[in-house]
Amino acid sequence: MPKAIHLIVACSENRVIGRHGGLPWSIPEDTQFFQDKTRGHTVIMGSRSFGEWPSCVRERDVIVITQDPEKLPAGVNSAAGLTGALALAQSLRGDIFLCGGQRVYEEGLAHGDVLHLTLVHTTIDDGDTFFPDWRKHFTRETARRESRDDRWRYTFLTLAR
Ligand SMILES: NC(=O)c1ccc[n+]([C@@H]2O[C@H](COP(=O)([O-])OP(=O)(O)OC[C@H]3O[C@@H](n4cnc5c(N)ncnc54)[C@H](OP(=O)(O)O)[C@@H]3O)[C@@H](O)[C@H]2O)c1
Repeated sequence: MPKAIHLIVACSENRVIGRHGGLPWSIPEDTQFFQDKTRGHTVIMGSRSFGEWPSCVRERDVIVITQDPEKLPAGVNSAAGLTGALALAQSLRGDIFLCGGQRVYEEGLAHGDVLHLTLVHTTIDDGDTFFPDWRKHFTRETARRESRDDRWRYTFLTLAR
């Protein structure tokens, strides 16, 4: 049976996910959530996202999408595109998590079974990387939890098709 495919992302109200090569926020509770959800599973990400978080290989199987696999550390799986990454992920650990960036999410939206969305209740005006509009694809909310820290207010949403 094919594995479940999850998309996992934190985005602002105007769907920004990144700015200047990093996250527009630092939310420890969301980082922890992301790490806990993906631990023991297979994560698929673009090469820039992997560059920000190379230590993810310790507790999960990783597939990096890139045209330059020779630039990756030895032993890291790679694929030239999302189709190849999804095929390879079938033989690796646990469920499949699509972890960004923008193109992985855009192409992955059609494949995902579950969306774990941390909606950060802010508007980022100078964002440069975006999550696609998910609302037509993921219409059913199966879980919701509101939270906040000193700086940010955010909602953990789980959505199904
Ligand atoms: N908020 C969140 O949840 C979240 C999650 C992830 C990332 N981010 C943010 O997003 C930004 C990084 O994302 P990004 O979109 O700029 O980069 P990215 O997707 O991480 O990496 C882009 C590179 O990955 C490869 N690639 C990605 N998708 C591909 C595809 N479908 N087919 C072929 N190659 C593909 C290409 O690699 P090569 O050039 O190596 O060939 C491309 O240059 C950062 O600001 C990061 O902090 C946020």
